Amino acid sequence: MIETGTMEQMLRPTADPAWLLATEGYDPLRESSFESRFAISNGFLGVRGGRAATRGARWVVPARTYVAGLFDKSDAQHAIPELIPAADWMKLRILLPGGALIQHPGDVSSHRITLDLQRGALLSECSRLKAPDISLRLRTLRFVSLSDRALGLQLIQLEIEEGEVEVTLEASFEGMNLGLASVQIDQHVGVWRTEHSGKSIAMASGSSLQVDGHDLFGTALGQLKSSWSWKTRAGQVVCFERSVAIVRSDVEAFNPAAAAIEKLGAARQLGWHGVTAAHEAAWASRWLLSDVLVDGDASVQQALRFAIYHLNSAANPGDERVSIGARALTGADYHGHVFWDTEIFLLPFYIFTWPEAARALLMYRFHTLDGARAKATRMGWRGALYAWESALTGAEAAPAQAIGPDRQVIPILCGSQEQHISADVAYAVWQYWQATGDDRFLREAGAEIILETGRFWSSRAKLEADGRRHIRGVIGPDEYHEDIDDNAYTNVMARWNVRRALDIAALLHERWPECWQSLASRLDIGEAELKQWRIVAESIAANPDPKTGLFQEFSGYFELERINLADYAGRSVPMDVVLGRERTQKSQVIKQADVVALLALLPNEFAGETGAENFRYYEPRCDHGSSLSPAMHGLVAARLGQSEKALRYFRKAAAIDLSDTHVAIDGGVHIAALGGNWMLVVLGFAGLSLRDDGIGVDPQLPAAWRSLSFGVQWRGRSLKIRIDQEKNRLEATLESGAPMMLVVGGAPPRELRQGNALQVDLSAELAPA
Ligand code: BGC
Repeated sequence: MIETGTMEQMLRPTADPAWLLATEGYDPLRESSFESRFAISNGFLGVRGGRAATRGARWVVPARTYVAGLFDKSDAQHAIPELIPAADWMKLRILLPGGALIQHPGDVSSHRITLDLQRGALLSECSRLKAPDISLRLRTLRFVSLSDRALGLQLIQLEIEEGEVEVTLEASFEGMNLGLASVQIDQHVGVWRTEHSGKSIAMASGSSLQVDGHDLFGTALGQLKSSWSWKTRAGQVVCFERSVAIVRSDVEAFNPAAAAIEKLGAARQLGWHGVTAAHEAAWASRWLLSDVLVDGDASVQQALRFAIYHLNSAANPGDERVSIGARALTGADYHGHVFWDTEIFLLPFYIFTWPEAARALLMYRFHTLDGARAKATRMGWRGALYAWESALTGAEAAPAQAIGPDRQVIPILCGSQEQHISADVAYAVWQYWQATGDDRFLREAGAEIILETGRFWSSRAKLEADGRRHIRGVIGPDEYHEDIDDNAYTNVMARWNVRRALDIAALLHERWPECWQSLASRLDIGEAELKQWRIVAESIAANPDPKTGLFQEFSGYFELERINLADYAGRSVPMDVVLGRERTQKSQVIKQADVVALLALLPNEFAGETGAENFRYYEPRCDHGSSLSPAMHGLVAARLGQSEKALRYFRKAAAIDLSDTHVAIDGGVHIAALGGNWMLVVLGFAGLSLRDDGIGVDPQLPAAWRSLSFGVQWRGRSLKIRIDQEKNRLEATLESGAPMMLVVGGAPPRELRQGNALQVDLSAELAPA
């Protein structure tokens, strides 16, 4: 029995507007942007924010549901794997004597959709939905559970304002033939399988409807479809509830129907309030560990909450076989493929607030190591070269061709040339291990990744007549320039990767000799090879110009045409569209942070003032043709003390998904830009860094911010940092775990213990030397 009072409460968004993102009105042309922005997800299921009530005989765009890891190819041999949408389990029709109730813009006096970031739920309210003979108010709620990721819930409440008519509510599934073959579709469960990848999913569903608190028996119409009919009267309250349980199977022999039915049974036993309570509790604990509070800038606060909401929605610590695609589970762009975005732009958030999720994401790279080894071998190198675009197995999933801006077919070289991905994965493994001290992960998975990627670079960098090793024929993060030699980002990251492989070999040898013995013998790494790596690490061409301190983005870059990007201010398309591909390739225009990204990741490679010099040189040459770029620039600007510029970058990155000026949000949120903005604030403005004995903080807040607070996980400890700019004070509290060290600015380390919050006077610590 649905308690009307509880339902009423559930359908009301969180009271504090700082947790809400809402849109008023109904503009069919803008629907697809909202569907991305208002998507709900739990890292296993992602549901786009499509409308809750039908606009007629069928949906214009179904509320598409994505299931992590549900990839398939359109034919067995050639096509690349794509994330396949599952059926929309929320279809609803309200049938009146004159036909289906349709939400024409003119019929609705107000329509509000609210994304409740705190509760991880999408709500909508539509008042005075008028049709001939009836007027009603419609409220809805939906979420996919963060507590049990197989579950989704839909609640609908109708309040009849006037009208006595016979009405039928019809609940069904839509899009059941969208790319999956159906195996079985009964009244309460459907099973579908992919054509080529051996995956299947089961969706079990149950629903109920009450009129003024009394259960109404429904009619089973078969094939996951039911209906309820009754006569309305003014003041009547109708509550409809539907739950769904979705289970994926990765092996053909296992039919997931029984597992989905069991999950659904357990959920219905708990009741929808129980399911909701568990979901909300799971969100509350995520927010406890990951919320970032900015006092003094409401728009930054909202953008950060939006970013953290999607970051918390995107991961699933319980599934090591999937990672996060470039649009997470919120849209179809990039087909669900996984890029360096995950390791470089998302991992920092997970490492510092949700290490279990970070570990699962890195285990995905461990499980796809064979694919990376096969790619390296196929291309004539040793070790592991990760796929630039990765899906299920780690085999390269990047397309070979695409249609360019001028409608010509152009080759896509990233799948063979954008090789920095291997160093990026190794970098994330190292950061994770440094921050968590998870030695078991290192021994069982991380070490092998670092060794095999280090081995790749050692075979990749070739000794030439000048006595140095060169890495030719690559694409760096700046994808405007292809087939280039000695990309600074790639070469320095490669050298770093080889050095870490040597460190790992030495560490395992010393601390866990048996582990080293078995790994070295399985991977066939002998003393001669380690010696070779040492030589490579010292001879890769990866140094800045000794006179200027500038890294050259790649060989010959300094000689290319300089284009003044200020002359093109106000353009709405990237510079390669303005100039054409060929001229862009011959120019210094950079698509996204490249040397600047290197500065963000490995600041110690930039001695003295050379970090600032490189930023000054490269920043005006970048057109931010990728959504990944502004936040990375902002992070570097913040660390260099250019806080107001960094804040402008934050706003630019936030606008990608939050304003309606960016064309490409229909295909899903830009999760890397969202992760990048978290990095900008925590690693940039707060200056959080890792140390062997604890963490460092070096605040550089924008002038208008009164304070910034956030949580950090470090080696099994939980701590909170608050930077109070008004009082010029930093407060650090260790909430759990053994004592650790904290370094503020350039001051000597201080010990941080539980029950003994540290108060640090910033005017003393950060005073210029
Ligand atoms: C960017 C890449 C990124 C990819 C997916 C491209 O436009 O240049 O760096 O990995 O999008 O987000």
